[in-house]
Amino acid sequence: MNGNTSSKINETVSWVGKWTFVLAAAGSAVGLGNIWGFPYKAGTEGGGAFVLIYLLCILAVGLPIMMAEIMIGRRARKSPVNAMKTAAIDSGQTGKWQAVGWGGLISGILILSFYSVIAGICLNYIIIAAFPTPDISSLEQFNIVTASPSRLLFWHSIFIALNIIIISAGVIGGIERMVRLLMPMLFILMMVMVINAMINGDFARGLNFLFAPDFSEVDATTFLRAMGQAFFSLSLGMGSIMCYGSYMPQEENIFKTSLTVAGLDTLIAILAGLAIFPIIFAYGLEPGAGPGLVFVSLLSAFVDMPLGNIIGPAFFALLSIAALSSAISLLEPSVAYFEEEKIVSRFSAALTLGLFAWVIGIGSVLSFNDWSDISFIGDLNFLDSIDYLANQFLMPIGGMMVAIFAGWFLKPDLALDEFSGIHLAIFKIWRFFIKFISPVLVAAVFIYQLVS
Ligand code: TRP
Repeated sequence: MNGNTSSKINETVSWVGKWTFVLAAAGSAVGLGNIWGFPYKAGTEGGGAFVLIYLLCILAVGLPIMMAEIMIGRRARKSPVNAMKTAAIDSGQTGKWQAVGWGGLISGILILSFYSVIAGICLNYIIIAAFPTPDISSLEQFNIVTASPSRLLFWHSIFIALNIIIISAGVIGGIERMVRLLMPMLFILMMVMVINAMINGDFARGLNFLFAPDFSEVDATTFLRAMGQAFFSLSLGMGSIMCYGSYMPQEENIFKTSLTVAGLDTLIAILAGLAIFPIIFAYGLEPGAGPGLVFVSLLSAFVDMPLGNIIGPAFFALLSIAALSSAISLLEPSVAYFEEEKIVSRFSAALTLGLFAWVIGIGSVLSFNDWSDISFIGDLNFLDSIDYLANQFLMPIGGMMVAIFAGWFLKPDLALDEFSGIHLAIFKIWRFFIKFISPVLVAAVFIYQLVS
């Protein structure tokens, strides 16, 4: 495994635990996006009807692309840039396909820069929910937090530092160890929050809101929103999954693990809805409150709730854990590249790239206060501009290119080899989807987002 210093042969790292790939990939997938994004969209887009369409998108687009990413990563056992290059060259194509990997590295750092600012607010809210200031409304509290650049910067710095520490501790000592600790914790905390919603919330109404299919709310945009959400939620299109796949042991079945990751991601999203909406209804709050939902609405519910000063911090700890396990997957692909190319050591790479994301994040810190009136792309502030660039532009293109590459340019034999253990019928279905269905659907979302 190590000790081989030949420049031709890379040191290959493998997850140790059988479940580590699943935990790490689920850790990447389950994040801030799931915990408030999914329930909120399900609520406004027709409840159960949206959930149904979302599941279809996960199966028709998410699963095939996830399998392609894992397959390309694991075959090469290299970071996304070199994994794409290797797969292309081995298929007799140009090595320029590595551009897909580069796009991923850039969008990873960009997403991390603002993800960390929001996650920093979550960290701060652990304390705020434990010791709420009397006589201050939760809206005033949120405004106090976001009005202070130094406060946001402080928590943003802490969050980036946690990422750097975990990533520099390595794939096994850092990421594997962390996800094996964080993911069970996240699951247990989520169950506690759902039980809390059964006790303190209006659970029947929450269930109804999330699951009663209302097809009158469904139109073309519902499909596109569900697709975008499925895509973002599974961490596809920027190399996170490809990179984690490169550490996957050879004997694991790519189809089964992908199905498990997608299932866990969806389960956590639904549980998040069951934890949040019953509380929102019981306390007469607005379910469609958007980004402020967890910070403003839920905080006010926690303040009034019995044992709220324990349940509140537990909830924000849950959010912070979910955010941390997602954030490390944003940084890892570029750190893996720097380490693999022997440009710098793993620690220096994590430090440099982490600091880079930290510096860009300062723009997002300021977009809550001093720069709130300054527009960058169109009329978007700094944070929203970076978000737009990465999520609406780089990521869908990345995902589409992975699908086009895997469907049309990669030698089918190479894929079949890597999918060993998979039923031939499943392979054929995968080929059909990755060739015809997934790229077209992603293209549709991409074009829709450009024109809307
Ligand atoms: N999936 C995460 C969430 O739901 C965010 C995330 C982490 C992500 N890594 C990613 C999104 C890579 C796209 C690509 O919050």
